[in-house]
Amino acid sequence: MSKHVLITGGAGFIGSHVVRLFVNKYPRYTIVNLDCLTYAGNLANLQDVAGASNYYFEKVNILDAVALNEVFIRYGITDVLHLAAESHVDRSIVSPLDFVYTNVIGTVNLLNVAKENWKSNMDTHRFYHISTDEVYGTLGAEGLFTETTPYSPNSPYSASKASSDHFVRAYHETYHLPTVVSNCSNNYGPYHFPEKLIPLFINNIIHKKPLPVYGDGLYTRDWLFVKDHARAIDLVFHQGKIGETYNVGGFNEWKNIDLVKLLCSLMDEKLNRPAGESAQLITYVKDRPGHDLRYAIDANKINRELGWYPSVTFEEGLSETIDWYLSNGEWLQQVTSGDYQNYYQKMYNPA
Ligand code: NAD
Ligand code: DAU
Repeated sequence: MSKHVLITGGAGFIGSHVVRLFVNKYPRYTIVNLDCLTYAGNLANLQDVAGASNYYFEKVNILDAVALNEVFIRYGITDVLHLAAESHVDRSIVSPLDFVYTNVIGTVNLLNVAKENWKSNMDTHRFYHISTDEVYGTLGAEGLFTETTPYSPNSPYSASKASSDHFVRAYHETYHLPTVVSNCSNNYGPYHFPEKLIPLFINNIIHKKPLPVYGDGLYTRDWLFVKDHARAIDLVFHQGKIGETYNVGGFNEWKNIDLVKLLCSLMDEKLNRPAGESAQLITYVKDRPGHDLRYAIDANKINRELGWYPSVTFEEGLSETIDWYLSNGEWLQQVTSGDYQNYYQKMYNPA
């Protein structure tokens, strides 16, 4: 069946991979990428699909309910994949309200517009909310996050995502909006904005700048290649059960310091630098306040019910990611000029 799919946040990191996958894989779908292009949104992420006949872009803020409604009517939107968000934990510590506006109020706007436009035949539609494992809080040395782990968010970012997840649940229970949610672990890959650990450190290694490891570097994350997340999103969108949540993760836990050392040695090889040179850039800096010790996802439900499993190893994904950054210097240069320099200065070299 032909669908008219609204993808919010499609100019961001994960959203651009989802838009690319859907535009290429589903030529009979109309794909509308709705994004207000914050510092994290970049149409250069989608140059290869921008001319496709089934692709449309709308520069709209999800805080603007009137403009959202116009887009629903203009394209006869049948389905939503909601990825638009403020996504960086460090920025949420500095400006929590920005996260409340976009992640909470923006999501509720979108839920309202979908509910009103679909009220005569809810069952033929789908509202898919893409969320994070950070809503579950932090783990100790043992255990995994499952779909039934109680929410316990610790940062303003994760609190805003948890709130948006609760609103999605409430719209399903109260108005029978056909919703589905997935909560994913840390993504990495091409087009990742260099404020997050992996792309920031790749950029700094290229320029021989210090690598700022927070605290003792013993924090643990579960890393997933972004194209595998996009494949999971495709499956959940088409086959996930309405009202359900699916956890998505890489089965791939790394302590930050071990990951950084692996990244340094891969980059030394690729840049023809002496072994050990990049690791000398490692600099321990002041910790992130409220820093969650460990995230790790139990992704067995999506594996069992939808047959999803990561397709690449971490070493393969990381190698492809580094190669992409080394061949896309112009992209990196463009996103690290201007405001990025001010952000970096304030974040890492405060007066
Ligand atoms: P990102 O920051 O790279 O991209 C966010 C996109 O949303 C940008 O294109 C931005 O312009 C757009 N946007 C922000 N505010 C908007 C607004 N008010 N109106 C319209 N557009 C707006 O984020 P990402 O890393 O691609 O994450 C996408 C989604 O996936 C988020 O909801 C995030 O919480 C979730 N998620 C991310 C990860 C991860 O590791 N990056 C993991 C799990 C879940
Ligand atoms: O778990 C999913 C989440 O992963 C997503 O919901 C978020 O949108 C995404 O940003 C990511 O959050 P993290 O806080 O885990 O990612 P980040 O890349 O910011 O940090 C990863 C780890 O590296 C974390 O323990 C903090 C540490 N770190 C990060 C930066 C930017 C450093 O040590 N130094 C740094 O400069």
